[in-house]
Amino acid sequence: MDALLKWRGEFPILDRTTYMISNSLGAMPRGVYDAMRAYADSWAERGVRAWEEGWWEMAVGVGDQIAPLIGAKPGEISLHQNVTLTQAVISSCFDFRGPRNKIVMVDLEFPSIQYFYHEQRRHGAHVEVIPAEDSIRFNLEKFLAAIDDTTLLVPISLVLFRSSYIVNARAIIERAHRVGAHVILDAFQAAGTIPVDVRSLGADFAVGGVLKWLCGGPGVAYLYVREDLRAKLKPSLTGWIAHRRPFAFETGAIEPREDSYRYLNGTPHIPALFACRPGLEILNEIGISAIREKSIRMTTRLLEGAKSRGWKINTPENPAERAGTVSIECPHAYEVCRELLAREILVDYRPSAGVRLSPHFYNREGKWKRFSKPEHGKSTPRRLPMPESSEYAPQRAEMVEKQLRRRGIEDSCVLGAMLKLPRHEFVPEEFRARAYEDVPLPIGSGQTISQPYIVAAMTAALRLLPTDRALEIGAGCGYQAAVLSLLAKEVFTIERRHELASAASEKLSSLGYHNVHVHCGDGTLGLPEFAPFNAILVAAAAPAAPQPLLAQLAEGGRMIIPVGDAENQELQLIEKHDGRLSTRMMEGCRFVPLVGHHAWQKPPER
Ligand SMILES: Cc1ncc(COP(=O)(O)O)c(C=O)c1O
Repeated sequence: MDALLKWRGEFPILDRTTYMISNSLGAMPRGVYDAMRAYADSWAERGVRAWEEGWWEMAVGVGDQIAPLIGAKPGEISLHQNVTLTQAVISSCFDFRGPRNKIVMVDLEFPSIQYFYHEQRRHGAHVEVIPAEDSIRFNLEKFLAAIDDTTLLVPISLVLFRSSYIVNARAIIERAHRVGAHVILDAFQAAGTIPVDVRSLGADFAVGGVLKWLCGGPGVAYLYVREDLRAKLKPSLTGWIAHRRPFAFETGAIEPREDSYRYLNGTPHIPALFACRPGLEILNEIGISAIREKSIRMTTRLLEGAKSRGWKINTPENPAERAGTVSIECPHAYEVCRELLAREILVDYRPSAGVRLSPHFYNREGKWKRFSKPEHGKSTPRRLPMPESSEYAPQRAEMVEKQLRRRGIEDSCVLGAMLKLPRHEFVPEEFRARAYEDVPLPIGSGQTISQPYIVAAMTAALRLLPTDRALEIGAGCGYQAAVLSLLAKEVFTIERRHELASAASEKLSSLGYHNVHVHCGDGTLGLPEFAPFNAILVAAAAPAAPQPLLAQLAEGGRMIIPVGDAENQELQLIEKHDGRLSTRMMEGCRFVPLVGHHAWQKPPER
């Protein structure tokens, strides 16, 4: 019997999903509802008195619930809004203008931290980035060698976010201290899943957030400063909360406190501090050793399952080097992730990692080992906004079987969406009876609704995830946007002709597709204000993919577009990886021309 399963009842989302994404956002404890109510009550009923009745102390006081989880003592932590800001507070204690100005980091560090330190070059910092050895780790010897007597700061994650690799922090701290450098240990992906002891490691600083393995929600990041440094260093990113006498409102330079308040600045983030406490209480009650023991069992089982199928694993195989996540690069990892999400198994996908699975203490062991069923035992169909339309159901089923499945459309989500969607609602009255035939049909204004096969083929090529934001160019009657809306989170569609845009908008909202937004305008310009998009579908033929649309494609994004003239066109699938575009030709097609600033100024001659 797994004693940790008794906590499942505390996390409402576990009734509905298999929650395997605690590396990104831990499940919310039920107690957060009460915590937020307590916050609202204190504000509503106590008003300004709430500050002196508890709010004022929270940005350090709540840190005492984090301290045991990272091996710090009470009073040693100040709380901030996010980890990037904690790095800024630390860096503001130092001067990069002298000979000791080097920052040593690895390119596997979380990007936000890299961005922050690269910008410190404008203040004199010299940033040395050690490249990764492979997708999992970096070369420790090279890293240690880069830490020399010009090194000021070494920001390093205890667990690398990409691979879940546990870094040898002790060796790094020892080396840094030998040459007089300071180490900022980022315990974000470590605290709550592996034992962390910042004091015994001798870390100068430790930072991290509570929203992942600590189940504390967004908006709270901790900053630990080593006891002997605490009163010596002086952040220039400071403010009145750090003052010895904040309510004297003295003018001029600050006279800072000597305790952890010294590292605070402006008014604290009280609601988030309330919200994080229930998760921290649970984590403290369970204790990290029980969590770690179960985590190793679960990640090992996942890893062995993947290995026995011959899949590539992008996390360390040795459990002593691995924290809470397993990244599996199985064939069609992207589609696998999408299918898991459709079955309410919450995981994510990253291009150089694969499908990332992060079980936590609240997951059931064994239930998910074959990824075959959600934990609650029954497969949940994809969200559909309307009741199934029985009208024309036989025609629709025949369309899916004969025109789609038999012609090679295999994606069950796309087939399912087109089986449910009342295509006849999108065509003019007089064509309703022909709505499910294998032909494009006129919809007015010289435009057509594409034949079902091409709608399915283009949609399938986009490999949509339920979390995706999609853009369609050429809304027409709105049918294609409706298909996308069943597979993506949000759909934006642009239509050049006013009358079609307003008819499509009316139709989509009358049928309940509230996640589709119809815009009227030049589709070749895209919608920069809503970019980036994970998927772009262009439903008209252009001489080449319009530049603004390529620019609005997200990293890892896919665009499907017919390219050619009035006579010869082919579908191109364009993908963006690491900022680079790759193009794959798919099949011949025939679309109306894409008219706009970045395509045809006027339709090409036929
Ligand atoms: C190791 C690590 N550090 C930092 C961050 C980002 O921190 P924040 O968004 O709080 O600045 C993340 C986010 O996922 C992370 O995994």
